[in-house]
Amino acid sequence: MGDIKTYLSEHRQRLLDELFNLLRIPSVSADPAYVADVEATAAFIKNEMKKIGLDNVSIEETPGYPIVYGEKIIDASLPTVLIYGHYDVQPPDPLELWESDPFEPVIKQTDLHPEGAIFARGASDDKGQMYMHLKAVEYLLKENKLPVNVKFMIEGEEEVGSPSLAWYVARNHDKLKNDVIIISDTGMVANDVPAITTGLRGLSYVEVEITGPNRDLHSGLYGGAVANPINILTKMIAGLTDEKNKITIPGFYDKVRELSEEERAAIAKTPFDLEEYKKALDIDAVYGEEGYTTLERQSIRPSLDVNGIWGGYTGEGAKTIIPSKAYAKISMRLVPDQDPEEVPGLFEKYFMQLAPPGVKVKVTNLHGGYPYVTPTDSPGYKAAAKAMKRAFGKDPLPIYSGGSIPIVPLFEKELGSKSILMGFGLNSDAIHSPNEHYGVFNYFKGIETISYFYDFYKKQMI
Ligand code: BES
Ligand code: MN
Ligand code: MN
Repeated sequence: MGDIKTYLSEHRQRLLDELFNLLRIPSVSADPAYVADVEATAAFIKNEMKKIGLDNVSIEETPGYPIVYGEKIIDASLPTVLIYGHYDVQPPDPLELWESDPFEPVIKQTDLHPEGAIFARGASDDKGQMYMHLKAVEYLLKENKLPVNVKFMIEGEEEVGSPSLAWYVARNHDKLKNDVIIISDTGMVANDVPAITTGLRGLSYVEVEITGPNRDLHSGLYGGAVANPINILTKMIAGLTDEKNKITIPGFYDKVRELSEEERAAIAKTPFDLEEYKKALDIDAVYGEEGYTTLERQSIRPSLDVNGIWGGYTGEGAKTIIPSKAYAKISMRLVPDQDPEEVPGLFEKYFMQLAPPGVKVKVTNLHGGYPYVTPTDSPGYKAAAKAMKRAFGKDPLPIYSGGSIPIVPLFEKELGSKSILMGFGLNSDAIHSPNEHYGVFNYFKGIETISYFYDFYKKQMI
């Protein structure tokens, strides 16, 4: 019988090797070329759940990628914790910007990670973080110390908007019944500033298509006389924000909850160094909505970004054309109480109005999700805060994150339970970017913290 720290030091190499094996499988959910790998990753998780001793382990088929389920019910009268995570990852491109193979993990030191960080796609988002939960429960089961029931639900479509998870949850209310959901798929402020995420932004994601002439035209014969869809699209995009960097879509801010001075003062207490921030991104100025700080702009204020724009000729050299079509992918991050069912409609109506005669406009709503806020006085939050205090020696800060996990508000609606966002990543982990990494410290500290969570949670509940 040993404590968690002894366990982690005795099994250190194995715990790294196992995670490396998971990271080697390229489970890119967005790209059909990886179908077999995504499925192999589900099989890996299933095998892992069996190995650590979970019961009723199964690959749950869905219209899309499978969900891996496993549970340990020690006593039906005890509270049940549902653990959610995702085994899919973002595409690794642009490949040429990776310093090492995205699917061949390596440990390298960085300024923020003197103990080293694991470089691989999914190391932080979310394989490394999801895997900590399996390892914490592995320890508790081996030591016969699991004090409550656990259910694991690990999905493979988070990075594409969780279409099948919504389908699955709606059909499995009883099976998934729980008292609290814990998720490690977010971040902390710094390795010595632990945090628990109490807010997530929502999302509306649209694709737009502008059509001009029925074919690409010679830009000499027609230039100046016909609307160029790319020129028009860029003007229309420019029209979506004003000189104060406010979004101009009528009605867009109507439901935005303005924070009180106290709430804004609390945000301002989060350690944040603007100079460091700019340096880390190689920018000489920040940019955003007038009247709000950088921390506010990226968490409690909505935003609108073009994620990609294309059309016309982009090959070698010069080709003189007026393209027939132009496209853009546009995401809007939403805050309480904005509604992702409503925002794409507001967008479309206004975007149509921005178009001059001579072009056709098509707007497609790709996917979305609601914003989320969770209170700091729930049993789950309190237990997570105590676990972090024990592991880090410091009380965690509640923080609002700018990212989205659309399934979290849906869990609350469908299952009636709160999600505790106890993430261990850092903003500098480069998730979704080349050279994604996850601190070795964060990996082991995460397992340690999670292992403490369960006892504190049980105490909160009895
Ligand atoms: N784990 C992230 C979300 C996240 C990261 C939240 C860090 C807070 C802090 C998740 O995998 C993600 O990338 N979500 C997407 C939304 C999804 C619908 C593609 C996002 O936020 O862009
Ligand atoms: Mn994630
Ligand atoms: Mn992600």
